[in-house]
Amino acid sequence: IHKGHGVKGLSEKGLKSLPKQFHQPLEERFSEKRILDQSPEVAKFICDAAENWGFFQIVNHGVALEVLERVKEATHRFFALPAEEKRKYSKENSPTKNVRYGSSFAPHVERALEWKDFLSLFYVSEEETSAFWPLVCKDEMLEYMRSSEVFIKRLMHVLVKGLNVKRIDEIREPMLLGSRRVNLNYYPMCPNPELTVGVGRHSDISTFTILLQDDIGGLHVRKDNGTGWIHAAPISGSLIINIGDALQIMSNGRNKSIEHCVIANGSQNRISVPLFVNPKPEAILCPFPEVLANGEKPLYKPVLYADYSRHFYTKAHDGKKTIDFAK
Ligand code: SIN
Ligand code: FE2
Repeated sequence: IHKGHGVKGLSEKGLKSLPKQFHQPLEERFSEKRILDQSPEVAKFICDAAENWGFFQIVNHGVALEVLERVKEATHRFFALPAEEKRKYSKENSPTKNVRYGSSFAPHVERALEWKDFLSLFYVSEEETSAFWPLVCKDEMLEYMRSSEVFIKRLMHVLVKGLNVKRIDEIREPMLLGSRRVNLNYYPMCPNPELTVGVGRHSDISTFTILLQDDIGGLHVRKDNGTGWIHAAPISGSLIINIGDALQIMSNGRNKSIEHCVIANGSQNRISVPLFVNPKPEAILCPFPEVLANGEKPLYKPVLYADYSRHFYTKAHDGKKTIDFAK
């Protein structure tokens, strides 16, 4: 190959694109949609993790790594904007509820603030909800929404199949994944990290969350009913999945929405980008009849997702207490 210079020689020639002879068929490309390919072992792994851990990392997710890189770059670009640009999206100034820039989580009701800035983008579809997304990150975030769609649907199918739910009809699909929220989080290095948190203990209210993080680390996940915390160590190219309260409710507690928190960092800035896959606000959450088929008692009463979500956002992070709203 290349007169004995090998692929090293080819690479060092400064090639702009890969020669055709190296293009593997689509189904062999590692980054292409190979994940969850009808593989019963992978499906079992995911369902076990959803029941026993509530958190897992996936490397072979099928979302192109370049897309994830562009999302991280866009996040840095947004937070590098001058303050007056970012302030345009604060609660007081934002032209729309679909875009919000802020710090901490619920500053007006918190005993102590959290060491984090964020930009939160609500998404139903490109046309309906992205008109005011900041231009420094809009294309990249929309590209992420498009590129993650296949993965989201596959994951949903694997999870509900594990719950014995065979049919996803036009009522259930929006109940499971009718809206999205994507947050761009910035945790700057902190002078006294031991005195504060990046994010306090909470569980997500999503159906499930897909978290992209950089290589700094800091996310900790509760294990064994709170006797231990596990560091969700960054794995390059991976996406972390965690089950949210909505799926815990729909599965009648079979799938676990686990408490987690982010510690502050004394020497490095960190970014993360959770994509919350949520029920649509108008959906009414309750346990699926299929999970109650054996005569099991429902642990949760029906709640309107918009109410559940409002309840979460109007109080400080407080561990797993949000779910009591559905009891
Ligand atoms: C969160 O759970 O709110 C953020 C997670 C992270 O930044 O790793
Ligand atoms: Fe979270």
